[in-house]
Amino acid sequence: MPAVTRDAKNIPEHVAIIMDGNGRWAKKRGLPRAAGHREGAKSLREVLKASREMGVKYLTVYAFSTENWGRPKEEIDFLMKLLSLTIDREVAELVKNGVRLRFLGRLDRFSDELRKKMKQAMDKTANGAGNTLNIMVNYGGRAEIVDAVNELIAERGKNGADEITEQDIQARLYTRDIPDPDLLIRTASEMRISNFLLWQVAYSEIYVTDVCWPDFRGEQFREAIAAYQQRERRYGKL
Ligand code: FPP
Repeated sequence: MPAVTRDAKNIPEHVAIIMDGNGRWAKKRGLPRAAGHREGAKSLREVLKASREMGVKYLTVYAFSTENWGRPKEEIDFLMKLLSLTIDREVAELVKNGVRLRFLGRLDRFSDELRKKMKQAMDKTANGAGNTLNIMVNYGGRAEIVDAVNELIAERGKNGADEITEQDIQARLYTRDIPDPDLLIRTASEMRISNFLLWQVAYSEIYVTDVCWPDFRGEQFREAIAAYQQRERRYGKL
């Protein structure tokens, strides 16, 4: 076990992660960006393992944003291939470990083949009763809120408008069935939310580290949890 002191009682239920710095990690080593992404996929595997060991129930990671389509085609193609390969490689083990895997975001933008693969992976792991891994793809926090509002309009009709409550929106988010993140981790130094889980992070503790995502493994995850455990959460109260 690492040198980090652990408080077994105060484990966050839901941890969200902005996995950033794959490109910078690769550049520092004179490697192509793809090498950073490949190593980043290994980090996700390690962090999921650490989170399971600690009893974190929900892990939500930002894998591809609505803005990431603006990257060079070569990099987008690589990321799609990596997603597909990771599903092929990991799903059996996720099933074995009782992990429920979900891909959340506007999935209709992906190829039929990749969409089918994501759906199969979700179906196969749907009964996982251990913990949940949400991989956010073609995800944007604003897009998610817009989708929730459009769902409401479709349900009620444009004129059937009782006042809309926070609960009405919450119940139509992609993450409608799980609690908001207790902790939001961002790797590679930037102090930004970058359109991630805008609604859900209202009261999340934020932890930013200089470590790039490919170097963020179990030990770094446990350090982030230890830092979280030092925080006092007040939810706007005294
Ligand atoms: C940030 O690095 C990372 C991404 C664009 C997301 C991709 C994440 C992974 C490949 C790890 C998880 C893997 C899977 C298969 C879900 P960046 O390229 O933005 O880094 P930079 O800011 O240093 O350029």
